[in-house]
Amino acid sequence: MYASDPAALNAAGTTLLSERRPRCADDPFVRAIGGTPLVPLHRLAPPAEVGFELWGKAEFRNPTGSVKDRAALGIVRAALADGRLGPGRALLDASSGNTAVAYAMLGARLGFGVVVYVPRQAAPDRWRRLRAYGAKVVATDPAEGTDGAQLAARAAAAAAPDRFFYADQYNNPANAGAHYATTGPELWRQTQGRITHLVAGVGTGGTVSGAGRYLKERAPGLRVVGVEPAGPIHGLEGLKHLPTALRPGAYDASVVDETVRVETDEALAMVERLGVEEGLAVGPSAGAAVVAALEVGAARPGSFLVAILPDGGRHGEEGTPP
Ligand SMILES: Cc1ncc(COP(=O)(O)O)c(C=O)c1O
Repeated sequence: MYASDPAALNAAGTTLLSERRPRCADDPFVRAIGGTPLVPLHRLAPPAEVGFELWGKAEFRNPTGSVKDRAALGIVRAALADGRLGPGRALLDASSGNTAVAYAMLGARLGFGVVVYVPRQAAPDRWRRLRAYGAKVVATDPAEGTDGAQLAARAAAAAAPDRFFYADQYNNPANAGAHYATTGPELWRQTQGRITHLVAGVGTGGTVSGAGRYLKERAPGLRVVGVEPAGPIHGLEGLKHLPTALRPGAYDASVVDETVRVETDEALAMVERLGVEEGLAVGPSAGAAVVAALEVGAARPGSFLVAILPDGGRHGEEGTPP
Protein backbone atom coordinates (compact mmCIF):
# COMPACT_ATOMS: atom_id res chain seq x y z
CA MET A 1 0.00 0.00 0.00
CA TYR A 2 2.96 2.32 0.35
CA ALA A 3 4.62 2.47 -3.04
CA SER A 4 2.47 3.66 -5.88
CA ASP A 5 2.87 4.82 -9.46
CA PRO A 6 4.59 8.22 -9.23
CA ALA A 7 2.53 9.40 -12.20
CA ALA A 8 -0.61 9.05 -10.09
CA LEU A 9 0.69 11.10 -7.18
CA ASN A 10 -0.53 14.55 -8.08
CA ALA A 11 -1.42 16.12 -11.33
CA ALA A 12 -0.14 19.58 -10.39
CA GLY A 13 3.29 18.22 -9.52
CA THR A 14 3.48 16.29 -12.77
CA THR A 15 2.78 19.42 -14.80
CA LEU A 16 5.26 21.49 -12.86
CA LEU A 17 8.02 18.89 -13.19
CA SER A 18 7.56 18.25 -16.90
CA GLU A 19 7.86 21.98 -17.59
CA ARG A 20 11.31 22.15 -16.07
CA ARG A 21 14.24 22.62 -18.46
CA PRO A 22 17.70 21.72 -17.13
CA ARG A 23 20.32 24.44 -16.73
CA CYS A 24 24.04 23.86 -16.59
CA ALA A 25 25.32 22.41 -13.27
CA ASP A 26 27.82 25.23 -12.92
CA ASP A 27 25.66 27.36 -10.62
CA PRO A 28 26.93 29.48 -7.70
CA PHE A 29 24.75 27.70 -5.12
CA VAL A 30 25.59 24.27 -6.50
CA ARG A 31 29.27 25.24 -6.43
CA ALA A 32 28.94 25.60 -2.63
CA ILE A 33 28.80 21.79 -2.39
CA GLY A 34 31.97 20.35 -0.83
CA GLY A 35 34.86 22.28 0.66
CA THR A 36 33.56 21.52 4.17
CA PRO A 37 35.61 22.30 7.30
CA LEU A 38 37.81 19.69 8.98
CA VAL A 39 37.51 20.27 12.71
CA PRO A 40 39.57 18.95 15.64
CA LEU A 41 37.71 16.78 18.17
CA HIS A 42 40.34 17.45 20.80
CA ARG A 43 38.10 18.14 23.78
CA LEU A 44 36.43 14.79 23.23
CA ALA A 45 39.79 13.10 22.63
CA PRO A 46 42.72 15.23 23.93
CA PRO A 47 45.73 13.99 21.90
CA ALA A 48 48.12 14.15 24.87
CA GLU A 49 45.81 11.90 26.87
CA VAL A 50 44.57 9.45 24.25
CA GLY A 51 47.77 9.15 22.20
CA PHE A 52 46.16 9.82 18.80
CA GLU A 53 44.56 12.71 16.88
CA LEU A 54 40.89 12.72 15.94
CA TRP A 55 39.30 15.20 13.50
CA GLY A 56 35.80 15.39 12.04
CA LYS A 57 34.80 16.32 8.48
CA ALA A 58 31.79 18.63 8.88
CA GLU A 59 29.65 17.38 5.98
CA PHE A 60 26.52 18.92 7.53
CA ARG A 61 27.90 22.20 6.14
CA ASN A 62 26.89 21.22 2.61
CA PRO A 63 23.98 23.28 1.11
CA THR A 64 21.22 20.78 1.99
CA GLY A 65 22.93 19.72 5.19
CA SER A 66 24.51 16.39 4.32
CA VAL A 67 27.37 14.57 2.63
CA LYS A 68 24.90 13.35 0.03
CA ASP A 69 25.00 16.66 -1.84
CA ARG A 70 28.32 15.46 -3.23
CA ALA A 71 27.05 12.12 -4.55
CA ALA A 72 23.81 13.64 -5.88
CA LEU A 73 25.71 16.34 -7.75
CA GLY A 74 28.18 13.82 -9.20
CA ILE A 75 25.31 11.65 -10.43
CA VAL A 76 23.35 14.61 -11.84
CA ARG A 77 26.37 16.16 -13.55
CA ALA A 78 27.25 12.91 -15.33
CA ALA A 79 23.65 12.36 -16.42
CA LEU A 80 23.20 15.93 -17.71
CA ALA A 81 26.49 15.64 -19.60
CA ASP A 82 25.55 12.49 -21.51
CA GLY A 83 21.85 13.31 -21.93
CA ARG A 84 20.36 10.62 -19.64
CA LEU A 85 18.76 13.51 -17.75
CA GLY A 86 17.16 16.20 -19.88
CA PRO A 87 13.90 17.79 -21.01
CA GLY A 88 10.90 15.53 -20.49
CA ARG A 89 12.79 13.14 -18.24
CA ALA A 90 12.69 13.24 -14.44
CA LEU A 91 15.32 11.85 -12.10
CA LEU A 92 14.00 8.90 -10.07
CA ASP A 93 15.74 7.17 -7.16
CA ALA A 94 15.42 5.67 -3.68
CA SER A 95 17.02 7.18 -0.60
CA SER A 96 16.98 6.95 3.18
CA GLY A 97 16.30 10.71 3.11
CA ASN A 98 19.42 12.79 2.62
CA THR A 99 20.07 11.95 -1.04
CA ALA A 100 16.40 12.58 -1.79
CA VAL A 101 16.68 16.08 -0.31
CA ALA A 102 19.89 16.71 -2.27
CA TYR A 103 18.28 15.59 -5.56
CA ALA A 104 15.21 17.70 -4.79
CA MET A 105 17.28 20.86 -4.28
CA LEU A 106 19.34 20.18 -7.42
CA GLY A 107 16.17 19.52 -9.44
CA ALA A 108 14.63 22.83 -8.39
CA ARG A 109 17.88 24.74 -8.74
CA LEU A 110 19.02 23.27 -12.07
CA GLY A 111 15.62 22.57 -13.57
CA PHE A 112 14.68 18.90 -13.74
CA GLY A 113 11.90 16.83 -12.20
CA VAL A 114 12.61 14.64 -9.16
CA VAL A 115 10.71 11.57 -7.96
CA VAL A 116 12.05 9.89 -4.84
CA TYR A 117 11.18 6.70 -2.95
CA VAL A 118 11.83 7.12 0.77
CA PRO A 119 11.00 4.71 3.62
CA ARG A 120 8.20 6.08 5.79
CA GLN A 121 10.37 6.20 8.93
CA ALA A 122 12.64 8.97 7.54
CA ALA A 123 12.94 11.99 9.84
CA PRO A 124 10.14 14.62 9.69
CA ASP A 125 12.42 17.38 8.42
CA ARG A 126 13.20 15.28 5.33
CA TRP A 127 9.52 15.27 4.29
CA ARG A 128 9.20 19.00 4.96
CA ARG A 129 12.25 19.79 2.86
CA LEU A 130 11.27 17.48 0.00
CA ARG A 131 7.94 19.29 -0.16
CA ALA A 132 9.66 22.68 0.00
CA TYR A 133 11.76 21.85 -3.07
CA GLY A 134 8.70 20.57 -5.00
CA ALA A 135 9.85 16.95 -5.41
CA LYS A 136 7.39 14.12 -5.81
CA VAL A 137 7.75 11.66 -2.98
CA VAL A 138 6.64 8.05 -2.63
CA ALA A 139 6.73 6.82 0.98
CA THR A 140 7.60 3.13 1.09
CA ASP A 141 6.95 0.41 3.67
CA PRO A 142 9.06 1.13 6.77
CA ALA A 143 9.47 -2.61 7.43
CA GLU A 144 11.31 -2.95 4.10
CA GLY A 145 13.78 -0.13 4.83
CA THR A 146 15.94 1.34 2.08
CA ASP A 147 16.19 -2.04 0.33
CA GLY A 148 12.40 -1.95 -0.19
CA ALA A 149 12.54 1.65 -1.41
CA GLN A 150 15.29 0.69 -3.84
CA LEU A 151 13.31 -2.24 -5.30
CA ALA A 152 10.18 -0.08 -5.67
CA ALA A 153 12.14 2.71 -7.40
CA ARG A 154 13.84 0.26 -9.74
CA ALA A 155 10.49 -1.25 -10.73
CA ALA A 156 8.91 2.18 -11.35
CA ALA A 157 11.86 3.28 -13.51
CA ALA A 158 11.81 0.03 -15.50
CA ALA A 159 8.09 0.48 -16.16
CA ALA A 160 8.61 3.90 -17.83
CA PRO A 161 12.23 4.12 -19.06
CA ASP A 162 11.47 6.99 -21.47
CA ARG A 163 10.07 9.18 -18.66
CA PHE A 164 12.73 8.64 -16.01
CA PHE A 165 16.46 8.72 -15.49
CA TYR A 166 16.99 6.03 -12.81
CA ALA A 167 19.85 7.54 -10.79
CA ASP A 168 20.47 4.34 -8.78
CA GLN A 169 22.78 5.87 -6.18
CA TYR A 170 23.44 2.41 -4.70
CA ASN A 171 25.10 1.24 -7.93
CA ASN A 172 25.97 4.39 -9.88
CA PRO A 173 29.78 4.78 -10.25
CA ALA A 174 29.37 8.59 -10.18
CA ASN A 175 28.51 8.29 -6.45
CA ALA A 176 31.92 7.01 -5.28
CA GLY A 177 33.42 9.01 -8.16
CA ALA A 178 32.26 12.26 -6.52
CA HIS A 179 34.06 11.33 -3.29
CA TYR A 180 37.16 10.29 -5.21
CA ALA A 181 37.16 13.68 -6.94
CA THR A 182 36.28 15.89 -3.95
CA THR A 183 36.16 14.37 -0.42
CA GLY A 184 39.42 12.43 -0.78
CA PRO A 185 41.54 15.35 -2.12
CA GLU A 186 40.05 17.73 0.49
CA LEU A 187 41.03 15.38 3.32
CA TRP A 188 44.53 14.95 1.93
CA ARG A 189 44.98 18.72 1.66
CA GLN A 190 43.34 19.59 4.97
CA THR A 191 45.45 17.08 6.92
CA GLN A 192 48.57 17.99 4.92
CA GLY A 193 48.99 14.30 4.21
CA ARG A 194 48.99 13.33 7.90
CA ILE A 195 45.80 11.25 7.80
CA THR A 196 46.42 7.57 8.69
CA HIS A 197 42.79 6.37 9.11
CA LEU A 198 39.57 7.31 7.30
CA VAL A 199 36.49 6.33 9.32
CA ALA A 200 33.18 6.57 7.45
CA GLY A 201 29.68 5.14 7.74
CA VAL A 202 28.45 2.76 5.05
CA GLY A 203 25.12 3.50 3.38
CA THR A 204 25.62 3.17 -0.34
CA GLY A 205 29.36 2.86 0.38
CA GLY A 206 30.12 5.81 -1.89
CA THR A 207 31.93 7.91 0.69
CA VAL A 208 34.12 5.19 2.16
CA SER A 209 34.95 3.66 -1.24
CA GLY A 210 35.59 6.86 -3.22
CA ALA A 211 37.45 8.90 -0.60
CA GLY A 212 39.22 5.76 0.61
CA ARG A 213 40.45 4.86 -2.86
CA TYR A 214 41.83 8.36 -3.45
CA LEU A 215 43.61 8.46 -0.09
CA LYS A 216 45.12 4.99 -0.53
CA GLU A 217 46.56 6.07 -3.87
CA ARG A 218 48.27 8.95 -2.06
CA ALA A 219 49.28 6.91 1.02
CA PRO A 220 49.24 3.15 0.44
CA GLY A 221 49.58 2.42 4.19
CA LEU A 222 46.42 4.38 5.07
CA ARG A 223 43.64 2.28 6.65
CA VAL A 224 40.01 2.66 5.68
CA VAL A 225 37.41 1.81 8.32
CA GLY A 226 33.75 1.25 7.38
CA VAL A 227 31.15 1.85 10.08
CA GLU A 228 27.93 -0.17 10.11
CA PRO A 229 25.04 -0.68 12.54
CA ALA A 230 25.49 -3.58 14.98
CA GLY A 231 22.43 -5.39 13.60
CA PRO A 232 19.74 -5.24 10.91
CA ILE A 233 17.24 -3.28 13.07
CA HIS A 234 18.80 0.02 14.11
CA GLY A 235 18.34 3.78 14.43
CA LEU A 236 21.36 4.89 12.44
CA GLU A 237 19.56 6.53 9.53
CA GLY A 238 21.56 6.33 6.33
CA LEU A 239 23.66 3.32 7.35
CA LYS A 240 23.30 -0.29 6.21
CA HIS A 241 24.07 -3.54 8.01
CA LEU A 242 25.73 -5.12 4.99
CA PRO A 243 25.55 -8.79 6.05
CA THR A 244 21.74 -8.60 5.90
CA ALA A 245 21.17 -5.89 3.26
CA LEU A 246 21.14 -5.71 -0.54
CA ARG A 247 24.83 -5.24 -1.27
CA PRO A 248 25.37 -1.87 -2.99
CA GLY A 249 27.61 -1.88 -6.07
CA ALA A 250 28.97 1.49 -4.89
CA TYR A 251 30.61 -0.29 -1.93
CA ASP A 252 34.12 -1.43 -2.88
CA ALA A 253 35.15 -4.11 -0.39
CA SER A 254 38.75 -4.03 -1.68
CA VAL A 255 39.13 -0.48 -0.30
CA VAL A 256 37.73 -1.17 3.19
CA ASP A 257 40.33 -2.69 5.54
CA GLU A 258 38.19 -3.02 8.60
CA THR A 259 34.52 -2.80 9.64
CA VAL A 260 33.38 -1.54 13.04
CA ARG A 261 29.75 -2.21 14.01
CA VAL A 262 28.18 0.25 16.43
CA GLU A 263 25.06 0.02 18.62
CA THR A 264 22.47 2.78 18.15
CA ASP A 265 22.49 3.80 21.85
CA GLU A 266 26.30 4.23 21.84
CA ALA A 267 26.02 6.43 18.73
CA LEU A 268 23.24 8.55 20.26
CA ALA A 269 25.25 9.03 23.48
CA MET A 270 28.15 10.25 21.32
CA VAL A 271 25.83 12.65 19.46
CA GLU A 272 25.10 14.30 22.83
CA ARG A 273 28.80 14.52 23.69
CA LEU A 274 29.62 16.06 20.29
CA GLY A 275 27.06 18.77 20.95
CA VAL A 276 28.10 19.60 24.50
CA GLU A 277 31.86 19.03 24.28
CA GLU A 278 32.59 20.07 20.71
CA GLY A 279 29.77 22.43 19.69
CA LEU A 280 28.76 20.16 16.80
CA ALA A 281 25.08 19.26 16.34
CA VAL A 282 25.26 16.07 14.28
CA GLY A 283 23.10 13.10 13.32
CA PRO A 284 23.29 9.49 14.58
CA SER A 285 25.60 8.20 11.83
CA ALA A 286 28.17 10.87 12.78
CA GLY A 287 27.97 9.67 16.38
CA ALA A 288 28.57 6.11 15.15
CA ALA A 289 31.64 7.17 13.13
CA VAL A 290 33.16 8.91 16.16
CA VAL A 291 32.50 5.89 18.42
CA ALA A 292 34.28 3.71 15.85
CA ALA A 293 37.16 6.18 15.44
CA LEU A 294 37.79 6.31 19.21
CA GLU A 295 37.90 2.51 19.28
CA VAL A 296 40.32 2.30 16.33
CA GLY A 297 42.52 5.14 17.65
CA ALA A 298 42.81 3.56 21.12
CA ALA A 299 44.39 0.48 19.52
CA ARG A 300 46.74 2.53 17.24
CA PRO A 301 48.84 5.04 19.23
CA GLY A 302 50.21 7.85 17.07
CA SER A 303 47.45 7.59 14.47
CA PHE A 304 45.71 10.55 12.81
CA LEU A 305 42.05 9.71 12.28
CA VAL A 306 39.34 11.52 10.37
CA ALA A 307 35.69 10.62 11.06
CA ILE A 308 33.12 11.71 8.48
CA LEU A 309 30.21 13.60 10.12
CA PRO A 310 27.56 13.02 7.40
CA ASP A 311 24.68 15.21 8.56
CA GLY A 312 23.32 17.54 11.20
CA GLY A 313 21.16 16.63 14.16
CA ARG A 314 17.47 17.15 14.73
CA HIS A 315 18.17 19.29 17.75
CA GLY A 316 16.21 22.26 16.47
CA GLU A 317 13.03 20.41 15.60
CA GLU A 318 10.99 20.19 18.76
CA GLY A 319 12.75 22.78 20.85
CA THR A 320 10.85 24.17 23.86
CA PRO A 321 12.00 26.83 26.31
CA PRO A 322 13.37 25.53 29.63
C1 LIG B 1 23.10 10.27 7.54
C2 LIG B 1 23.94 9.45 6.62
N1 LIG B 1 25.10 8.97 7.05
C3 LIG B 1 25.88 8.20 6.27
C4 LIG B 1 25.51 7.87 4.99
C5 LIG B 1 26.40 6.96 4.20
O1 LIG B 1 26.99 7.54 3.10
P1 LIG B 1 27.28 6.69 1.80
O2 LIG B 1 25.98 6.50 1.09
O3 LIG B 1 28.25 7.50 1.03
O4 LIG B 1 27.84 5.36 2.22
C6 LIG B 1 24.31 8.33 4.51
C7 LIG B 1 23.84 7.96 3.17
O5 LIG B 1 22.68 8.05 2.86
C8 LIG B 1 23.50 9.15 5.33
O6 LIG B 1 22.30 9.63 4.91
